[in-house]
Amino acid sequence: MSDSRLSTLPTPCLLVDEAKMERNIDRLANHAAELGVSLRPHLKTTKSVDAARYVLNPRNPAATVSTLAEAEVFARNGIKDIVYGVGIGLNKLERVLDLHRAGCRLTVLLDSEAQAEAVAKASREAGIAIPAMIEIDSDGHRSGLTPQDPILISVGRILHEGGAELAGVLCHAGESYFAVGREAQRKFAETERDAVVDAAAALRQAGLPCPTVSVGSTPTAHAAADLTGVSEMRAGVYVFFDLVMSGIEVCSVDDIALSVLTTVIGHQEKQGWLICDAGWMAMSRDRGTANQQVDQGYGLVCDENGVLIPDLMVAQANQEHGVIAVRSGSDATMPELPLGTRLRILPNHACATAAQHQRYHVIPKEPGAELVTWERFGGW
Ligand SMILES: Cc1ncc(COP(=O)(O)O)c(C=O)c1O
Repeated sequence: MSDSRLSTLPTPCLLVDEAKMERNIDRLANHAAELGVSLRPHLKTTKSVDAARYVLNPRNPAATVSTLAEAEVFARNGIKDIVYGVGIGLNKLERVLDLHRAGCRLTVLLDSEAQAEAVAKASREAGIAIPAMIEIDSDGHRSGLTPQDPILISVGRILHEGGAELAGVLCHAGESYFAVGREAQRKFAETERDAVVDAAAALRQAGLPCPTVSVGSTPTAHAAADLTGVSEMRAGVYVFFDLVMSGIEVCSVDDIALSVLTTVIGHQEKQGWLICDAGWMAMSRDRGTANQQVDQGYGLVCDENGVLIPDLMVAQANQEHGVIAVRSGSDATMPELPLGTRLRILPNHACATAAQHQRYHVIPKEPGAELVTWERFGGW
């Protein structure tokens, strides 16, 4: 039976299943509580003030962001404790100070003496001690200092003695996205924890403060079993989940709360294809499952109600055309889906797919309730 609430939506557009999203949010919130750490949700996935209300603690809203634009929007909407989780660019310090002047405690991230000196100098000149965390590298994924690197102590000293605020250490186990299954992810969670705990110990041994010890990625946050020495964890994509996360068994396909509503606009019977109006502009170019055990193309196909159609995927994508086909090697047959049929596509990477859209159309958890719209934003 078709859902009349979806029939008037323009396609392609972005759908959120509120019940699944709440289940995902509760799952990690409960796990963080069991582990005795606070959760600092990463708002880069949703980039929406309405969605942020679901994940933040109303009494003590603390968030992570990936751009200063996010920090500025969320600060204007009452979120006053924000970690900007990307190494600070020296050209961005004036905006950091403006956020402080507007009452937002924005913590920056850095991993070099040059950044620390610039943050300390900006702090002295403005008379505002900018909080800064030192990024720690646990797996060679991207940036950060290893806990043994002697630069760690000199960076800490430059911040602490130079007029900034040494707020702590932060690690993101980016290699955990390539670990399949809970056991493998738990090892990354342990390496991530050990790296920050060792770094915090090294700073404290050098007589420096290290109040916050922060870890997090969606796979390690879920897999962690013991976070002794850690004060908070961060995660973002756990809110929606996606095919990359189900491909490494952090969630099931049924947990994915985000989808793109699309319409069948053509058939290529000789090729066995359906053409839909969700191309890569609607799905994003992300092919994060390409190197996983099961390649999901540009996304898996569900009917309008979100029920998976076995072995149907968006096999190719042009800008505004999605080519839907039966997975190669499968003996499934293409169902009859006439022109105008509405389908939902589950995304590879929720952050990337959501970023292609300006709003979410939310299917409320109360059966039959009217759809709700949440605006989202982008930019830097
Ligand atoms: C600094 C930082 N913290 C946390 C995360 C967690 O994000 P996710 O939920 O996507 O794993 C990320 C992801 O890129 C990050 O860069």
